[in-house]
Amino acid sequence: MKVLIFGSGGREHALAWAVKRSPRVTEVVCAPGNGGIAQIARCVPVDLKDVAAMVRLAEAEQPGLTIVGPELPLSLGIVDALQERGLRVFGPTRAAAMLETSKGFAKRFLQRHNIPTASYAVCANLAELEKAVEFFHPPIVVKADGLHAGKGVIICPSRHTALEAAQDLLSGKLLGETEQHILIEEFLEGDEISFLCLSDGKHVVPLAPAQDHKRIGEGDTGPNTGGMGVYSSDAMLDAGMTEWILRHIAVPTIYGMASEDAPFTGVLYCGLMMTARGPQVLEFNARFGDPETQAILLRLESDLVDALEACIDGRLAETELRWSPGASACVVASSAGYPGSYKTGFPITGLKDAARVPGVQVFHSGSAHSGSAQSGGKLLTAGGRVLGVTAAAPSLEDALARAYEAMALIHFDGIYYRRDIGHRALRRTP
Ligand code: AMP
Ligand code: GLY
Repeated sequence: MKVLIFGSGGREHALAWAVKRSPRVTEVVCAPGNGGIAQIARCVPVDLKDVAAMVRLAEAEQPGLTIVGPELPLSLGIVDALQERGLRVFGPTRAAAMLETSKGFAKRFLQRHNIPTASYAVCANLAELEKAVEFFHPPIVVKADGLHAGKGVIICPSRHTALEAAQDLLSGKLLGETEQHILIEEFLEGDEISFLCLSDGKHVVPLAPAQDHKRIGEGDTGPNTGGMGVYSSDAMLDAGMTEWILRHIAVPTIYGMASEDAPFTGVLYCGLMMTARGPQVLEFNARFGDPETQAILLRLESDLVDALEACIDGRLAETELRWSPGASACVVASSAGYPGSYKTGFPITGLKDAARVPGVQVFHSGSAHSGSAQSGGKLLTAGGRVLGVTAAAPSLEDALARAYEAMALIHFDGIYYRRDIGHRALRRTP
């Protein structure tokens, strides 16, 4: 079977790596891919904002399975367009992806279905905001409605600063484009967990849980990023808590979407806050997380292609996933300056030595070849997040030690990575 993957990040590198391990897969094509993906798959250029071009590519390639990585093409309806042409595609329709693409839709949906989440108000102008803000106790969370890669969330210490932030979002001062709707939310405290599940529209199978580190700085300081590292371990959630989250959050979400005629097929990523009142939904994503996927797929022993096909065919009830026991961790190496402006084009060295550390896979997020991959061109940095050095081991300590041992062998000009990935979990371990 030929598999086509849309996307260009570390998530897509991990997907290509996992898909390639399936004995049924003969070829992996990734569009547009990156320098690391080009070492294991055929990369083809495509603009992920151009659904018509993506459809033309899929029709020309005729893959047996297409996997959509990022949210942007999902929000533009790539799954609907491929389905209309009879192509088998893994991912939610545009209507189902609303769980991610509109925070207002997601909050109203959660409320309609009694799924635990922070209390909130959706406002369209200053008058509504002034009225709503009185119902919230500081700190107050202010969010833009649409997709902003984590940049549309501001935590405000007072009602006054919340109103200012909301106005700056409405006027476009904060994000460069004006917002139609603003959300105000109760501030939740606790540990964040990324709880991802596969769904065929009716059934849910959880993936191994993960914890992301969104801030650029050690000790969770500084601005938000796409994710600077992640770990996954058996100890994060016990069987009882997993069952609770499935029963009260994941399953009601899938049933709710089906009952509203937008059945959700794909990966439902529940961003949860583990509060004193129990798990609460912070946000949904309608896709695999990045860098969660790198750590999660390194632990997956089952055939990923079989599992994704079971989702497409509505056979997930018969599917059980096997995981390697223990833990995994992914440490992201970024370019100096990220998440602000940064330079690219610096040679990356030490990758071969890093890959020889037992249990380690280096997934590329932003790299490119100076020539063609086949001609042995040099690998250069090409993004803010450059690499995700990922390792699995019987314990979280060992997984982190392996990832950091491999990371120490890698060099590029301005390389930065957090040295405290997973440390919160290690402190809790007696
Ligand atoms: P979101 O894009 O909605 O996931 O928000 C990005 C990040 O902001 C989350 O991962 C949390 O760290 C933080 N955040 C969002 N909503 C809340 C909330 N209600 N309370 C506390 N932190 C939040
Ligand atoms: N790691 C967070 C995300 O994928 O949205």
